[in-house]
Amino acid sequence: VPVNPGFPNPTPHSQQAYEPDADYTSRWTRADARQLKAMSDPSAAPRENSMPEEYTMPTIPQSFPDMSGGQVWVWDTWTLTNGQADQLSFKGWEVIFSLVADRNLGFDERHTYAKLGFFFRKADIPTEQRPEDGGWTYGGLVFPEGASGAIYEDQSFSHQTEWSGSTRIFAGNKLRTFYTAVAFYRDAAGQDVKPADPRIVQTEGRIFADDTGVWLTGFRDQHELLVPDGTLYQTKDQNSSVNFRDPFTFEDPAHPGKTFMVFEGNTAGEREAVECTAEDLGYDPADPQREVPVGEGVPGGPPEIASDANLRMGNVGLAVADNKALTQWHFLPPILSANCVTDQTERPQIYQKDGKYYIFTISHRSTFAPGIDGPEGVYGFVGDGVRSDFQPVNRGSGLALGSPSNLNYAAGFPFAPDFNQHPGQFQAYSHYVMPDGLVQSFIDSIGTSDDFRRGGTLSPTVRVNITGADVLVDRSYGTDGLGEYADIPANQVADVPATP
Ligand code: FRU
Repeated sequence: VPVNPGFPNPTPHSQQAYEPDADYTSRWTRADARQLKAMSDPSAAPRENSMPEEYTMPTIPQSFPDMSGGQVWVWDTWTLTNGQADQLSFKGWEVIFSLVADRNLGFDERHTYAKLGFFFRKADIPTEQRPEDGGWTYGGLVFPEGASGAIYEDQSFSHQTEWSGSTRIFAGNKLRTFYTAVAFYRDAAGQDVKPADPRIVQTEGRIFADDTGVWLTGFRDQHELLVPDGTLYQTKDQNSSVNFRDPFTFEDPAHPGKTFMVFEGNTAGEREAVECTAEDLGYDPADPQREVPVGEGVPGGPPEIASDANLRMGNVGLAVADNKALTQWHFLPPILSANCVTDQTERPQIYQKDGKYYIFTISHRSTFAPGIDGPEGVYGFVGDGVRSDFQPVNRGSGLALGSPSNLNYAAGFPFAPDFNQHPGQFQAYSHYVMPDGLVQSFIDSIGTSDDFRRGGTLSPTVRVNITGADVLVDRSYGTDGLGEYADIPANQVADVPATP
């Protein structure tokens, strides 16, 4: 019996756990992802949100403040965490790490110039006493000049950047930053002469603080941890626009003594050569709304998926550390694949609550495969372990929290949003779910083609209630669900050495 007339039913997922090193990858199937469109209101008028309010981030006003006071563009952001993803303050200071770029660049040029920067602010100030922009002081860049480029044997790159990751605090004041180094080899016209080379890297530093602020030292020696192997994770030579980045490390109480990492990857194989399977599609063979893989259609039977759907092959990768210094790692099979669903499952994180394990990962509207549509936002999957038959949250769709969007109208681009779109469609991206369900993100673009403003600063924090497979916006938080701008609070205090 179809749950939504005109749409398939989602794939059943047991949430059952497997060993972290088991050869089992759960699938966010096309049957699952088609639930996104199934819950969009086909009669939503121009500039209205067509998605359910309970999964939609409240609308951010266009009058947002800039947290850096004009110094830098700010986007993907994270804080100091421990192995349980708690957020720690250090000597009375809250510290965040952000991708930053010069404000003289256009905001869309930022990716090839990104560097890790940091900000700090006093902990324990009631939110209502902070300034509207969150009250952060920009501390500058995290790494010494040139340090992150040193790992490349081929130094002929035209651009070398630092992309997202995470920062762990260890005993005393030791930090380990996990991030993505990317080298671009482009000619004067901006065309790739060799494919971009993304690598997952770790570097160790120290944090210091006194009454006047926070500073960082070290981060000179870079340890290359992982490059795609071509068997589990697609390489730059298999796909010149491969997605491989955004490491996030954590410990699993079910496997004490080990440190794991999730990251964004793509399913291995030559681009275009690997076709999606019936399992990737995930339909009940009797579902009247089912599709079939390319080449398997018969006259009068269900339609084949678009022949280029297999250019969208995102996955959430897993790796495990082989030493205590977390400088040596090996790949495990991906924990989630989104073959023929979306190409990018970005900034994945593992969120543990009530004995359940959630993968949260961000996806753009523009990276979905043909036949799949959904908003910019954070997507969630729940299971009983780090590796599980993950169930997509919220009616089996996966959408945890989307920007307000109208799927009846084209998206446009952040630099040219569609005239008929909800002005909030590109309001926020890079959502990261923090302790107690708080969600931070950055502002990309707010408005419609006739009147919009680019962001480059952090959004108001919002809150979601996470219960089993339901993730619902808390509209009692802040003002109608919108909290304070750039509000990234610590939920724990770091143990500080007597003499750092
Ligand atoms: C998300 C993201 C990350 C990447 C960074 C690059 O906003 O695409 O996946 O690390 O931005 O700027």
